[in-house]
Amino acid sequence: MYVCSCFGITEQQVKKHADDGACTPRQIASACKAGTDCGGCVRRIQALLGRGDCTRGELLKARTESTGTPAGAPSLFGTTPDVRLSDAA
Ligand code: FES
Repeated sequence: MYVCSCFGITEQQVKKHADDGACTPRQIASACKAGTDCGGCVRRIQALLGRGDCTRGELLKARTESTGTPAGAPSLFGTTPDVRLSDAA
């Protein structure tokens, strides 16, 4: 049965990517593009992954790797750049 009709990705393909180590919809998208067009399948992919073996630690690691920022950590946006007025003179 198709999970992602935009790219013709089946539930079986999503499960295979999950078995190969994909823990998040983003990782599934990296593997097969599912979820990257209309996004209508993302909740379904999330539901399929929710039954997997990924631990919370693996999910945190996956998020950190994909964003460079640990989950829950403040974003780098809005921080002051390391430039001083004296540098501009
Ligand atoms: S149904 Fe998966 S991106 Fe549209």
